[in-house]
Amino acid sequence: MKMEGFRIFQILALLSLSAIFPVIHGWGTDGHLTVCRIAQSRLSEAAAEAVKNLLPESAENDLGSVCSWADKVKFRYHWSSPLHYIDTPDDLCTYQYNRDCKDENGEKGRCVAGAINNYTTQLLTYNSASTQAEYNLTEALLFLSHYMGDIHQPLHVGFTSDRGGNTINVHWYTRKQVLHHVWDANIIETAEERLYDSNVDGLIDAIQQNITTEWVNLVKRWETCSANKTTCPDIYASEGIKAACDWAYKGASEGSTLEDDYFDSRLPIVNLRLAQGSLNLCTICTIVKHKKLFLRKTDRLIFPRPRSPKTSKLMLSFLSCITYGSFRISHLCNHLCFYL
Ligand SMILES: *[C@@H]1O[C@H](CO)[C@@H](O)[C@H](O)[C@H]1NC(C)=O
Ligand SMILES: *[C@@H]1O[C@H](CO)[C@@H](O)[C@H](O)[C@H]1NC(C)=O
Ligand SMILES: *[C@@H]1O[C@H](CO)[C@@H](O)[C@H](O)[C@H]1NC(C)=O
Ligand SMILES: *[C@@H]1O[C@H](CO)[C@@H](O)[C@H](O)[C@H]1NC(C)=O
Repeated sequence: MKMEGFRIFQILALLSLSAIFPVIHGWGTDGHLTVCRIAQSRLSEAAAEAVKNLLPESAENDLGSVCSWADKVKFRYHWSSPLHYIDTPDDLCTYQYNRDCKDENGEKGRCVAGAINNYTTQLLTYNSASTQAEYNLTEALLFLSHYMGDIHQPLHVGFTSDRGGNTINVHWYTRKQVLHHVWDANIIETAEERLYDSNVDGLIDAIQQNITTEWVNLVKRWETCSANKTTCPDIYASEGIKAACDWAYKGASEGSTLEDDYFDSRLPIVNLRLAQGSLNLCTICTIVKHKKLFLRKTDRLIFPRPRSPKTSKLMLSFLSCITYGSFRISHLCNHLCFYL
């Protein structure tokens, strides 16, 4: 009896503490967490192994837990801060890589689409002899996972003069806010509070549910990209600026108050973009698939002398099998194995 009373006291104390210090939601942390959690749950077996291998030990194989790492290192790695977004010309509502993907000094490729290409390419060089030591592929994975989320946030592909809505002051219900932050965090937080008991897991489950029902066509879109290319950031950026014009900027001019009307009509867009980001992060799957091709090509390079076409084909399959088998069986080289 006494024990029980103490428990209840403890719980009450905890409850009142959490009322005084409410859980502080990070700057877009939940959006990134959602993208990474869903993506990791959908990886192919080989890609899941590769991710497990590359993640820092402290992440305990949870990509979501380190999905906001790139925001945390923005100041330490100062060069990385222009890689989170794209500024497009005001009011044009279009995106072109050659025109728009640059930093404030005009250096080409320094934008979120360029960064996605960059880290995808780095991950593709994994274990190739010449570049092996050049990149930190743990960082490449963490950057890629984060930027894939960013490029799907409509205002991360926004107008130049308002810095993606960062200089547009609005009220989110009664609170003063900038429009960019409304899309980074407020819409998601309000949805969590109203629909999912303030719990990000509820949101993640709901989106996952819709990916398998309402949104199966999104999976097909992803497959169309991956059929031809490793990743398609230019498509995601074009969709982004269109959503920014059609939904984010619309009805949200300087000084406006955004309430239920805005929330109710924009939440479906946020959910959809989170789902697309999750699916498109399966770029990791394509990278791992390409590694397989890459290894086959290497076999060919080692034995370049052409015999009759038939023999050389036979020879190749034979060698591939041997190579494949010995990697699988011997576990000599952990890294290579995971890509087979
Ligand atoms: C590419 O990655 C390297 C290593 O992190 C970084 O130094 C460089 O700035 C990146 N460039 C782009 C455009 O992402
Ligand atoms: C790679 O980057 C991670 C995260 O910054 C760091 O903890 C790790 O020590 C780096 N690895 C190497 C080999 O430099
Ligand atoms: C899932 O789809 C249903 C039906 O279209 C919709 O009402 C609901 O808001 C969607 N949920 C999420 C999280 O997208
Ligand atoms: C990929 O290739 C198929 C044909 O193989 C084509 O129909 C499709 O439009 C291409 N998709 C992209 C994104 O290039």
